[in-house]
Amino acid sequence: MIPASLIPMAEPIPVPWAWFDVLLILTFTAHILFMNALLGSAAIGLVRTVRGNDGLMHDVGQKLPPLLALTINMGVAPLLFLQVNYGHFDYVSSVLMGGWWLGVIAALLFSYYGFYAYKFKYDAMSPGRRNTLFVLSLAGLLYVGFMLTNNTTLMLLPAAWTQYFENNGAAFLNWGDPTLFPRFLHFMLGSIALGGLFVALLGQWRKIDEYVDSGMAWLTRATLVNLAVGMWFLIALPRDIMLGFMGGNLPATLTLVTSLLASAMLLAAGFQKQPKRAATWAVLTVFFMSCTRHWVRTFFLAPWFRIEDTPVTHQYSSLYLFLGFLVVGLALTGYMLKLYFKSRQGRA
Ligand code: HEM
Repeated sequence: MIPASLIPMAEPIPVPWAWFDVLLILTFTAHILFMNALLGSAAIGLVRTVRGNDGLMHDVGQKLPPLLALTINMGVAPLLFLQVNYGHFDYVSSVLMGGWWLGVIAALLFSYYGFYAYKFKYDAMSPGRRNTLFVLSLAGLLYVGFMLTNNTTLMLLPAAWTQYFENNGAAFLNWGDPTLFPRFLHFMLGSIALGGLFVALLGQWRKIDEYVDSGMAWLTRATLVNLAVGMWFLIALPRDIMLGFMGGNLPATLTLVTSLLASAMLLAAGFQKQPKRAATWAVLTVFFMSCTRHWVRTFFLAPWFRIEDTPVTHQYSSLYLFLGFLVVGLALTGYMLKLYFKSRQGRA
């Protein structure tokens, strides 16, 4: 079986590919920031409950349903842009994962319901019951994250797709890929770090110093460990790709170096316990790391596909319509947020 014969033909795209790649990276950055606040603050709340203090879990529990909604909404946009430019890889890996991939919908529904129930039925449930629900809802999020790492790595490896025929057509995960675990762990530790930052920002907003101290401690410790896991991820990459990030490809190396500098600034703000400054560096770190991740995709796909070869039809009307809706949508969202923070509930 020749793996290249399994790759569908690239569909023509209406405007040059760079539009979609830039929008993909920007919206993916937003998705990951919300996902980090969601998953990280939930995990930190849970650890504190296990240690005997469930106050933080209760407080972040109030924020989890909207954070989950925002994570999902911000996930839809990169999914669409990914499908435009890389659909002939991403659709195949999704189909090969079969039930594992479809299970994401069930896990998301479960976690969504679980966090809603935790928030709105808090007093009606016994501590044992609501804590179990919280743990299961968090496990649902971990399942979704792990499936996304499986999908976004399997799409890069057409040579691994032939397993389908060796497995008698059964769905499979990307277990054979040495980058799978370091990559997933890298995302999860990033979530703990930015979850800590979210707790610190909550503490600053509510004037609870203990949340600021504890949140910033989670941010710095998880980021330090994540530097080591990032190194593991780098050396788990195929040798030529790893060397690309170590001077072999100048733009890719500069992107990685910029991400590392941004994370150093994030750490410095963390040690100085300045949540707002840390938040600015966190956004920049996640953005540059997303660009680095995009280089990883480009390098992995290079033997199979060059985005520059995708046919372009130069039909700009849908792009103008999209940009128009984006501007109006952002203005309306800003207005709604302004009204929300003016309201009594928003100030509370
Ligand atoms: C709420 C639970 C979710 C969690 C914990 C989560 C977590 C993640 C993680 C960890 C990644 C990075 C995977 C990797 O590169 O190794 C990722 C990527 C992605 N997520 Fe989510 N996600 C969630 C929900 C969603 C939803 C509901 C959607 C779509 C509707 C979505 C769309 C995406 C897309 C498209 C990517 C890949 C983008 C790209 O490859 O450039 N996510 N997500």
